[in-house]
Amino acid sequence: MKPRVLVSREVFDETLAMLGEHFDIESNQADIRRSSGELAAALADKDGAVISTSDRVDAALLDQCPRLKIVANVGVGYNNLDLPAITAHGVMATNTPGVLTDSVADYTFGLVIATCRRMTEGEHYLREGQWKGTYLKQMLGMDVHGATLGIIGFGRIGQTVAKRARGFDMNILYHNRQRLGPAEEARHEAHYRGKNDLLREADIVVLLTPYTPESHHMIGAAEIALMKPTAVLINVARGGIVDDAGLIEALAAQRIRGAGMDVYENEPALDPGFLRLKNVVLSPHLASASEPTRKAMANTAARNCIAALTGSTPPNLLNPEVKPRR
Ligand code: DGY
Repeated sequence: MKPRVLVSREVFDETLAMLGEHFDIESNQADIRRSSGELAAALADKDGAVISTSDRVDAALLDQCPRLKIVANVGVGYNNLDLPAITAHGVMATNTPGVLTDSVADYTFGLVIATCRRMTEGEHYLREGQWKGTYLKQMLGMDVHGATLGIIGFGRIGQTVAKRARGFDMNILYHNRQRLGPAEEARHEAHYRGKNDLLREADIVVLLTPYTPESHHMIGAAEIALMKPTAVLINVARGGIVDDAGLIEALAAQRIRGAGMDVYENEPALDPGFLRLKNVVLSPHLASASEPTRKAMANTAARNCIAALTGSTPPNLLNPEVKPRR
């Protein structure tokens, strides 16, 4: 009998074909969202799972899934996984690093430019029929080229954003849990700052840090108060890193110039306060959503699942200390 694998959300046909060579698959091509109880029920008789970052995997779910050996997350961020609980249950966990780096860096830059140059505000103005002619002081924004960019979270994606920034002649500051060595800093033309100093100095602050208990509300009213009144904040990392209510209040009071947001606390629910503001650019968690990248993410997750259930070590194992179930 082939191992049984659940694919929790819609994936590409080629991903299903890869998995189908090895497994009996239950897929969800209708892309119906499941409650955690429904997900647990669907996983109760499965050996493997290819899941999305909106599926939560924790002890309560795992207790109901005695056969499960691998949870392959389609995404690099894995705050939806309770890794200690997964490891304690003898289950392997994997993510999809690397394949989305460039697409997320591209999108980050798109959001930086859209926010600084008020692109979506301009589009709304046009669509509402308000454009009566061009004049000198119309919808003035700030320049991206030559500005000081502060990147909080200087891993793969942060470093790739820095590469884009060099092309825009930007002054690059970074903050990271671990400071890079001098040679690496020189290679990225990036200068280390403590978090508060970075917030004080940057014209554009980009968040690219993982969401953990330590990074919960890393940016709230107190941190925003440190930023220049002309600065903008960009969150493409995870909801919860920013205190959304605090940001909305700061934007409404124009304590900073603007924000570009791709991720939110409690998404897909959105704090309606955002919708009332003109100085925020909003998108629905799209940073990795180019077709080739989303295919690469799904196929990477499939490869991790195949490796785990055919006796190999998955390439992107997050818990190498796990003692896998048999
Ligand atoms: C990721 O890979 O973590 C992206 O945010 C997509 O969910």
